[in-house]
Amino acid sequence: MKDIRKRVEELRRLLEHHNRKYYIDADPEISDAEYDRLYRELQAIEEARPEAADPSSPTRRVGGGKIEGFVSRPHKSRMLSLDNAYSREDLAEFAGRLARGLERTDIIYVVEPKIDGVAVNLQYEKGTLARALTRGDGRTGDDITGNIGTIPTIPPVIPELYTMEIRGEVFINNRAFETLNHERDAAGETMFVNPRNAAAGSLKLLDPAEVSRRKLAFIVHSIGAVDGKPFAAYSEALNFFERAGFLTPPGYSIVTGMDAVFGEIERIYVEKQKWAFDVDGAVVKIDRLADRDRLGGTAKSPRWAIAYKYAAERKETVLKDIELSVGRTGVITPTAIFNPPVHISRTTVSRASLHNFDEIRRLDIRVGDVVVVEKAGEIIPQVVQVLTNRRKKILKPFHLKRKCPVCRGPAVRFEHEVALRCANLSCPAQIERRIEYYASKAGVDIEGLGEKVVSILASKGLLKKLSDLYRLKSHRKELLEFEGFAEKRVDNLLAAIEAKRTAPLDQFLAALGISHIGAVACRDLALRFRTIDDVRSATIDSLLAISGIGPKMAESLVAFFKQNKKLLNDLKRLGVQPSPVERIEAGDNPLKGRRVVVTGTLPTLSRSDAEEAIRRMSGFSTSSVTKQTDILVVGDEAGSKLDKARQLGVRQISGAEFEDMIMRPQAIADQPTMSLEAQS
Ligand code: IVH
Repeated sequence: MKDIRKRVEELRRLLEHHNRKYYIDADPEISDAEYDRLYRELQAIEEARPEAADPSSPTRRVGGGKIEGFVSRPHKSRMLSLDNAYSREDLAEFAGRLARGLERTDIIYVVEPKIDGVAVNLQYEKGTLARALTRGDGRTGDDITGNIGTIPTIPPVIPELYTMEIRGEVFINNRAFETLNHERDAAGETMFVNPRNAAAGSLKLLDPAEVSRRKLAFIVHSIGAVDGKPFAAYSEALNFFERAGFLTPPGYSIVTGMDAVFGEIERIYVEKQKWAFDVDGAVVKIDRLADRDRLGGTAKSPRWAIAYKYAAERKETVLKDIELSVGRTGVITPTAIFNPPVHISRTTVSRASLHNFDEIRRLDIRVGDVVVVEKAGEIIPQVVQVLTNRRKKILKPFHLKRKCPVCRGPAVRFEHEVALRCANLSCPAQIERRIEYYASKAGVDIEGLGEKVVSILASKGLLKKLSDLYRLKSHRKELLEFEGFAEKRVDNLLAAIEAKRTAPLDQFLAALGISHIGAVACRDLALRFRTIDDVRSATIDSLLAISGIGPKMAESLVAFFKQNKKLLNDLKRLGVQPSPVERIEAGDNPLKGRRVVVTGTLPTLSRSDAEEAIRRMSGFSTSSVTKQTDILVVGDEAGSKLDKARQLGVRQISGAEFEDMIMRPQAIADQPTMSLEAQS
């Protein structure tokens, strides 16, 4: 028995060690198969000898069956956000406030990495994990217990049988993120923009078995409501969490004085490079819980902690070339090409948009220059500086040719526009982009017809104009000869194109990409005119009679149909017949005419899909909350927009309610839309 106990302890220690190596360091020492072997050995002993089992063993997972949907439940204490600091001065001010509040300066701080994940609240009752909730609006969150049960670094049982809320971040480490995206790409699914979105999306899956495949991890970083007073300091709680089998913030330290705090912040900045997950700052928090209680907090954040945000990462490289590309409307966009490519925030950056030619002039950027590249919002790379002091004398200013880089036709600059455009409507690059747009989600949404496929078909001469899409079916044999075009892929593609001959009229209009005509206008047009022929024969006056259509839009429409007679006749001959759009009555469509703002992460929709959905339902998607805002859609990790909406009394609905509303507008409209405020 003693030997078995020893082995059980050893296995537990080993599994916890390998969890850290895998999830935090991205430096696994053993293969997945070896890990599974250790795991199964422990499981087997525990099954055979229950008396040797430890209640907090890593094998005691509670992964459940399929979930029907998520129920909103209350947090026992509110889940707050953190104030931000960006400089040493901000930190000094923070320290000053604390010293005044506590009337002393010998304050003990814990400094730890700020993990860029998804906040989760674990409610333990008498030592057992009873519920796991997302942050939601801070007062109530979605019950995601079934999914949380699949995360190996969350113990289902904690020692001492405490009743308490344990909070932390769920994240996907970079390796698991890359594998996941790779698999999604191969399966033709949309890829996640970053690991945080991947983690948020995974927590909202309805199938815990799929969640468990995603390799989510959890790092604990705070305490919510606690029964009794088991800890005098946060650092004591951290020791307890480690004993319980949680991962704690790597590299945390306990220090006094702002100089030491700043030293730790700098150390974490260096150390984070070797960790396997995104860290977007450091959190400085008071250790003693009695001090925290004395300081309290505001409605948004505690006074006893602050998040220090690191500046966006910057790297130097050389501008090798300025590439010019032509868009759907003929706009010519310059792109900077770097050599060598640079590593910024975990990705290799070899190009960045220079936006327009005014930007080139403003930066006076020249091929051969040493440039500084930054990733704005950690996603889009940008040239932020040209190091002119290191410029070689022979470098010449960028010379703008008034010619299209693709068709060599004239390039013109319209009055009041920064953009330079290729004026040739039959420019092959423009046509390719228009076909891509027509087939994209913003258009009629033809599955399998993305940028790459359009480019291949165009290069083989099968897509010389948009209407050629509907001629492709007579080229089936030829298509089958292209590399990578297996029978199934070709047939699926042709079927997807066929299916869109009768796309809804509003989508078809949007797919044409008419200047100044957005999705809401397309919807209004489709509701006023039932067929494309009716839209084509509309006069300026009849268009102006539609509310929401102004003179610029009406002129643009009439000009478009005049210029594109041949294309539309061609499409008609080929049997393209957009279907009429049914009107959803105002009372049935809770978003119609409403100004809607989305904040935070939604259960399944990306931000751009949500905005598109609002437009499709004739709502207006806007970005900031003002007195005019009708509805704020509150996703997970909602930020300052939620505070603003509360101040202004703007109605709020949860992300799940919003998604329901889009799927079933009528069903929801029957009930008054619930406000999150009213629920809590
Ligand atoms: S302490 C009152 N520590 O960042 C909240 N938060 O932007 C106390 N976060 O809401 C939180 N890493 O979800 C804390 N080491 C860390 C953290 C951390 C990430 C999240 C947390 C918080 C958000 C604020």
